[in-house]
Amino acid sequence: MKIQFSQSRPQGARLIAHVVDKGKLPSATNAAMRAGAEAARFKGNAGQTFDGFVEDGGEVARLAIAGAGDRNDEARLANLEKAGAALTGKFQSTGDKDMVLDLTESGLSAQEAAHVLLGLRLRNWRYDIYRTKLKDEQKVTLESVTVVGAPEGIEAAWADTEALAEGVEFTRELVTEPANIIYPESFVERCKERFEGTGAELIVLDEDEMTKLGMGSLLGVGQGSSRESRILAIRWNGGGSEAPTAFVGKGVTFDTGGISIKPGPGMEDMKWDMGGAGAVAGGMLALVKRKAKANVVGVMGLVENMPDGNAQRPGDVVTSMSGQTIEILNTDAEGRLVLADALHWTQQEFQPSRVVDFATLTGAIIISLGNEYAGLFSNNDQLSKDLADAGEAVGDKVWRMPLGKAYDKLIDSPIADMKNIGGKGAGSITAAQFLQRFIADDTPWAHIDIAGMAWSDKPGRTWGKGATGYGVRLIDRLVSDTAEG
Ligand code: BES
Ligand code: MN
Ligand code: ZN
Repeated sequence: MKIQFSQSRPQGARLIAHVVDKGKLPSATNAAMRAGAEAARFKGNAGQTFDGFVEDGGEVARLAIAGAGDRNDEARLANLEKAGAALTGKFQSTGDKDMVLDLTESGLSAQEAAHVLLGLRLRNWRYDIYRTKLKDEQKVTLESVTVVGAPEGIEAAWADTEALAEGVEFTRELVTEPANIIYPESFVERCKERFEGTGAELIVLDEDEMTKLGMGSLLGVGQGSSRESRILAIRWNGGGSEAPTAFVGKGVTFDTGGISIKPGPGMEDMKWDMGGAGAVAGGMLALVKRKAKANVVGVMGLVENMPDGNAQRPGDVVTSMSGQTIEILNTDAEGRLVLADALHWTQQEFQPSRVVDFATLTGAIIISLGNEYAGLFSNNDQLSKDLADAGEAVGDKVWRMPLGKAYDKLIDSPIADMKNIGGKGAGSITAAQFLQRFIADDTPWAHIDIAGMAWSDKPGRTWGKGATGYGVRLIDRLVSDTAEG
């Protein structure tokens, strides 16, 4: 969807939208609409909508009103996103190609207006390329939003916000694509296309290179698949000479469970088991597109977990790049095996000042936190606070969970340095303990378990059902708050 700015309302505009604070209505409403709004109990609450028709210079136009709630609400920016999202949620397939967003009376600042536009744009995103038989009234018809009466500085504010929207949309696309389309090699190709000409550097490790580096842990997961594994690193040097922040993502393009195979019902969900890598790719795109003044690297461990004749077995022992050995007791606990080598390589290759990994790692985190917060595990209080603050500010929320020696003991193995599963309890914590064994003691590190966040069964603040794009905004905000001068 294109967003353009104009001094005057385009001729013959048929759909005119306004964003209003609680208790207000645009001056263009007529008596009938005012009565209608009252009858419909439209109060201007955040995300509430009302629409009707008015005559304007001999033409009839549809007036759409979205509420932004209380001007002094501490969730003001989120409310403005909701207002924007409500407009596209409602009018994206009404047959209108252009929506005029008239902000003349809104009283919004440039930053506030940019959040309305972000909500509009993100909620309008859909991925219909495989739906060839959609009826006309089901298709997205909205192609552009023309903003009139926008506050000063909107263009600059929107430029950065638009980069963020592109990042979120890229993550959603990667997460939505089925596993016959997005597998390790095609994930890399999609990123190459998207980062072309942006100034970011892409580094790809193939299986030969990973074998030479001794990545037996990551390669063991991919060995039951006919798709080759990859590591992809995207590097952006927008800062000075400081060490980079590293983001690392679990990119299991499909997780059957391997020989410890998952039950059939719901297995299709495991196409989004690359949601961590998707978040890292989209987060990097947002940073690169807005030319963030920071050094950042995004590393994605890309594998497919399949159960063919060459697949690893329960009981196998593999040697990771760090030299530590792992007894595989459950081939479905594969994300940690991928991350073990990806995390070790990231630290060795880039000597980052801090490492944040994103992974759809455990079903247990959904039992703990549902779909409201991602689980945060960290060896560093400052990094934890920075992530919690950034997440609260943008709506990608994290909740800190414990780590500790007593949990770490649960993954000791009688035959190797560790086993890849703990006991019955604390499944998300033992997974995090496993990852911590691949982090140098003095490296600030955080692990974010996003199993409950990458995909949504119901529409949310700025998304319909499906891929949410979780993590992109968190990455962007963490960098802007803590790494950019
Ligand atoms: N990818 C799954 C975790 C997952 C589950 C993500 C549901 C999203 C939704 C992960 O690889 C996995 O299978 N974890 C196992 C670990 C267990 C074998 C210790 C789990 O959570 O059951
Ligand atoms: Mn698994
Ligand atoms: Zn998995």
